Amino acid sequence: MSGYDTEKIQSLIGGHMDRPMVAVETGILLGDTTRKMSGMFRHVISIDIATGIVEAATTALADLKNVELILGDSAQVVPELAKSIHEPVLWYLDAHWFPGANISRENPFPLWDELDAIAARTYPDIVMVDDVHAFGRDDWGCDHPAGVVERWGELSEEAIVTRLGRVVKSLIAMDKVVCYLDDLPQPHNHIRE
Ligand SMILES: C[S@@+](CC[C@H](N)C(=O)[O-])C[C@H]1O[C@@H](n2cnc3c(N)ncnc32)[C@H](O)[C@@H]1O
Repeated sequence: MSGYDTEKIQSLIGGHMDRPMVAVETGILLGDTTRKMSGMFRHVISIDIATGIVEAATTALADLKNVELILGDSAQVVPELAKSIHEPVLWYLDAHWFPGANISRENPFPLWDELDAIAARTYPDIVMVDDVHAFGRDDWGCDHPAGVVERWGELSEEAIVTRLGRVVKSLIAMDKVVCYLDDLPQPHNHIRE
């Protein structure tokens, strides 16, 4: 089942990250997952391309002091964050078309750009890609705007692992592909530029 179950997510993280500190979510929508993450991580960053969604979430999540909301295309924001966060990150990748939301017409499926940016890092991150039920299905989707084509058809656990390159273990749980990344020599020892 899709969604974010805090206890199950914690059990998937335990053993790989001693103290998961930072989480980055792509796709805020109502902020449900953002709120759950805020109780688990020191700092949570969530990105959405839709102005109305970021505005509503800013109000709905105003009580959460460790949450940072960014308005932008995750295909561009994730590469910036990947370079500037100098500690392990839980990447929760869930940006795609959704009714009532918005989408980048130039790049309607930001996942591959996100994965490339994370692949270039050297930290023992965890990557979760949501909605495995849609993988391999070019026909999947809910009332896409005319002319918008997402690329679910080429998506699989194997394709994600290959794209990330430095995966030490992967599995599917809770409708997500979960990839544990290798711990490579660190070029920096500070937290964030
Ligand atoms: C499935 S919903 C996210 C659900 C949310 N993560 C949760 O667990 O409740 C997908 C969201 O992705 C956003 N989105 C679509 N394309 C995006 C992009 N290129 N960059 C950032 N957000 C995007 C949509 O506006 C929508 O709010």
